[in-house]
Amino acid sequence: MKKIIVIFGLLIGFLIAQKSDLKNVKVLPYKTKRELVKFMKSVVAPELGVKCNFCHNMTDYPSDEKDHKKVARQMMAMVQNANKTMNNLNFHEISCWVCHRGNEHPDHPPKKK
Ligand code: HEC
Ligand code: HEC
Repeated sequence: MKKIIVIFGLLIGFLIAQKSDLKNVKVLPYKTKRELVKFMKSVVAPELGVKCNFCHNMTDYPSDEKDHKKVARQMMAMVQNANKTMNNLNFHEISCWVCHRGNEHPDHPPKKK
């Protein structure tokens, strides 16, 4: 009986540890920090031409203190919705690159004459 309680306790501990891996993720679908950081490194940062500290306090990644991070979260939601909308077209998924092309600010259209 004691053994079962110990195993049960370990299991609960394990589940809590898993859950607290990501603390403030509201839009992205990733379940683990590893997958999420891979996306940050290979998509988010290079497609905007910025480093992690553009959006993050480097000693507190979950913090939302930087406005760029809050904008980026809305951008991520927009991109997800766009991809959902285009699902049935069988096109390539879009990402930040489609607009940003390696820049913080996407190009604006030329002024109309
Ligand atoms: C353009 C802004 C931006 C850049 C650059 C960026 N991130 Fe993020 N990051 C975000 C946003 C927004 C979230 C939260 C996403 C959500 O809510 O779904 C996030 C979440 C995270 C989290 C999860 C923190 C938690 O809540 O537990 C980690 C870890 C992280 N980023 C690491 C990085 C690393 C490492 C880099 C650099 C390679 C990086 N990020 C670059 C915007 C950015
Ligand atoms: C449909 C086009 C489009 C897509 C896709 C897009 N963005 Fe944006 N983004 C914009 C526009 C437009 C602005 C505003 C630029 C301006 O006003 O100069 C912007 C601004 C931003 C800013 C604010 C920059 C600053 O200096 O304040 C961040 C951060 C950002 N986008 C992150 C992202 C991320 C991360 C992605 C991918 C998940 C993404 N965007 C995808 C169009 C897009």
